[in-house]
Amino acid sequence: MSEEERQALIGMIRGFLRETDAVAVLTGAGVSAESGIPTFRDAQTGLWAKYDPMELATPQAFARDPALASRWYDERRRKSADCEPNPGHLALVRLQGEFEAAEKRFTLITQNVDRLHQRAGSRDPLELHGTFWVWRCTSCGEEREERTVPLPEYPPRCHCGGTRRPGVVWFGEALPEAVLTKAWRAAEGCGLFMSLGTSSVVEPAASLCRIAADAGAKTVEINPQETPLSSWVDVSVRGTTGELLPTISSAWE
Ligand code: APR
Repeated sequence: MSEEERQALIGMIRGFLRETDAVAVLTGAGVSAESGIPTFRDAQTGLWAKYDPMELATPQAFARDPALASRWYDERRRKSADCEPNPGHLALVRLQGEFEAAEKRFTLITQNVDRLHQRAGSRDPLELHGTFWVWRCTSCGEEREERTVPLPEYPPRCHCGGTRRPGVVWFGEALPEAVLTKAWRAAEGCGLFMSLGTSSVVEPAASLCRIAADAGAKTVEINPQETPLSSWVDVSVRGTTGELLPTISSAWE
């Protein structure tokens, strides 16, 4: 994609933002990539090179070896604690501020579990896949924000004696119903849906853009790579969110 083409598409996205009263944004691991957090499907490195993340992010992996699985999540927590939100995160905070100041609707839906959106200043993101900053007891069900880095033990224990698991949605598990319903409603009710930094292969998140399009929304994708959405969304820009979102979030300048 040439720079001219990219700039023309950015101009279209800025126009879509000015024209709509409601935007829904879906983010994936690509938005955190420029903070230094490997995407979910990036090659695993070091100790974890021999493990498939798709294997580790399952109830079976945790049942088989809760110490190994909780250590893997703790490594990701530690990594994200050492990283800072990047210009892509900050641009989304600015966009939310612009929309809310104009009494327009802005909904951030994220598949990311690192809470970098919140650290950047995003308000009320819908965490479709939960977060590894909350751990839940597998016995009494108590959920607790766990800020200590690293975790005191693997797996962490609950005061009831039970084992605590990361508060993320594993493959094969249902997403939190209330969060998913809000995401569906935001997709159905928006005039613009932006899919940012996601491979768009994991359901039900991957269907939100289609739901928005079927309800009449303009649809936009930003990703350095093609995804299953690229061939049919209104605008698909090959690029990184850290570089392109700041040029879009100033839609009113
Ligand atoms: N800017 C924008 N996009 C980027 C960037 C960047 N700087 N760097 C990488 N990407 C894109 C990649 O091209 C890829 O399409 O981000 C996407 C990351 O894809 P995945 O690793 O599959 O992450 P994600 O789409 O968030 O995965 C969805 O699946 O694995 C489960 O629960 C996990 O939440 C995750 C979900």
